[in-house]
Amino acid sequence: MSGQSHRYGKIREPDADGIAEAARILRKGGLIGLPTETVYGLAADATNSLAVAKIFKTKARPRFNPLIIHVSNKTMAAEYAEVTVYADALMEAFWPGPLTLVMRRRENCTVSPLVSAGLETIAVRAPAHVVARTVIGAVGRPLAAPSANRSGRISPTAAGHVFEDIGEEIDMILDGGSCSIGIESTVVGVGEAGFWLLRPGAITAEQLEDVTEKKLRIPEGSAITAPGQTASHYAPNAPVRLNATDRREGEILIGFGHVAGDMSLSKTGTLTEAAANLFSMLREADALTPTTIAIAPIPDHGLGIAINDRLRRAAAERE
Ligand code: TXA
Ligand code: MG
Repeated sequence: MSGQSHRYGKIREPDADGIAEAARILRKGGLIGLPTETVYGLAADATNSLAVAKIFKTKARPRFNPLIIHVSNKTMAAEYAEVTVYADALMEAFWPGPLTLVMRRRENCTVSPLVSAGLETIAVRAPAHVVARTVIGAVGRPLAAPSANRSGRISPTAAGHVFEDIGEEIDMILDGGSCSIGIESTVVGVGEAGFWLLRPGAITAEQLEDVTEKKLRIPEGSAITAPGQTASHYAPNAPVRLNATDRREGEILIGFGHVAGDMSLSKTGTLTEAAANLFSMLREADALTPTTIAIAPIPDHGLGIAINDRLRRAAAERE
């Protein structure tokens, strides 16, 4: 059997049959690749510890890094987490969408403790992608889903990326096309007294502050405090050089705005377009096996903060 036919057997259209099959697999404790508006997730039934353990095995992810559960809405979130006034306001404003809230676990929370990596808290988000929403509805349980890449590698923004990275080890991949946002959700911790940033992402600090009318605390400058966030992450095979305005011998230059490059994240210098192209372009550049992937400077405001966070990790000293 050729690799191609195997690939097409595993990648499925999200039609009624595909969705029903995905729900069956998840209810039995299997794993699927699931499209969301940010990146593709590696989804399992969050209430099934064995299924969740398979996620860690497949990603080769350190156990101490907790996972996000994906729910349909606020009501479903409140079954598992203590929703404070602040959390409620953020859900109202940004759900469904790319905002993850870290809240206290409810006492009777039936989500596997492995999802929280033993912490008293749980990360919850309601994705906007219609396929993700339909699958959650069909399963009727929260889905634990980290990005569907091997730990430390580039996050997948297309079904084919998931197949290349972990296709052999999972039961199916639903093809929801290219992710419209292309960068992971913003992760925010919320308590009784306010909220703080744990991972910059698709929703900007300004957008959050507009809703809460309160300054977003960013612990230790821009340092990331979500557990398991390692410095080297999102790594292509080739080393990465940041803030490049020229191409050196053997390099591929990824441009932005007036830095043209061999390819461009956004010729018009648009940050939303750059976010959507970021991970697929890193893969594309890497496939050309350059000595180094050089990347043009990206302005450090709005969505650029999340893009630069991912780029710094891609460029960091490998572990
Ligand atoms: O857009 C996204 O968020 C994607 C899609 C698939 O939903 N998911 C994703 O998951 O990026 P993952 O596992 O790659 O990243 C989850 C982040 C990690 O940085 C983790 O440390 C943090 O959320 N996190 C999860 N639970 C936490 C908790 N209880 N306390 C603090 N941080 C937590
Ligand atoms: Mg990830």
